[in-house]
Amino acid sequence: MSEDSGARWINCRAPEIVPSRERSMKPLVDLERACFGFRRRTILDDVSLTVERGESVAVVGPSGSGKSTLAAVVATLLRLQSGELRIDGQDVLALRSARLAAFRRATVGVIFQHAELVPTMTALENVALPALLDGADRATAEGRARRLLDEVQLSETDTPAGDLSGGEAQRVGIARALVNAPALVVADEPTASLDGPTKAVVADLLYSRLEAHGAGLLIVSHDVAVASRADRVLRLEGGRLTAQLAEVH
Ligand SMILES: Nc1ncnc2c1ncn2[C@@H]1O[C@H](COP(=O)(O)OP(=O)(O)OP(=O)(O)O)[C@@H](O)[C@H]1O
Ligand SMILES: [Mg+2]
Repeated sequence: MSEDSGARWINCRAPEIVPSRERSMKPLVDLERACFGFRRRTILDDVSLTVERGESVAVVGPSGSGKSTLAAVVATLLRLQSGELRIDGQDVLALRSARLAAFRRATVGVIFQHAELVPTMTALENVALPALLDGADRATAEGRARRLLDEVQLSETDTPAGDLSGGEAQRVGIARALVNAPALVVADEPTASLDGPTKAVVADLLYSRLEAHGAGLLIVSHDVAVASRADRVLRLEGGRLTAQLAEVH
């Protein structure tokens, strides 16, 4: 999805000005009155969301309701059309291109449904890559990658990612998301392509590793068993984000 796709004329209220004193007390993710649309269609309509440091927040909702769009906005991969987004105190919308990419690399780890590893690189190389891009030397990057692969119980560190099973690839994806010690991890359907038992193993690792690293988590999941493990569950429907009623638990 490109930053420039989408309508500019969707009807949203103007963002409020937040005094700087209050900004320093803001949570890890502070999305305020966000609006985003594709062409004439509004996907996020005045959506506000917070994630505290170390907190996990799940978003559920019907297919097509905009969960992946919301995840991409919070991961700073899509730019809001109106509203405010602060991550770790940084006004993300004030950053452009190279500075935004550097901020994202250091602050946000992203986990995708199909892991999205580089298939020709080994598991170890995939995990080390974001650390190398962030300026770490090879020994440091590979040392961190080895420790994280050990944490997610992946011994096949020298196997090309294209040869890993779905569950193994997703464990590599979790390790890769954590390699730069991000304050925030955004996961979009991280267990959707896995079978039942593997799903449970990967979900266990995801929640336990994030807790161990103190990272905040925004997770989008169709899977009730996975979403209900989050500290809070929200529902996105009709462009609006609301607290999910108890039945997800
Ligand atoms: N690049 C794009 N251009 C136009 N429309 C798009 C684009 N990306 C997504 N959409 C539309 O935006 C809506 C929300 O899509 P999104 O992928 O965020 O939904 P979702 O809740 O994640 O769905 P699912 O549960 O099926 O993954 C959908 O109707 C989709 O077709
Ligand atoms: Mg989706």
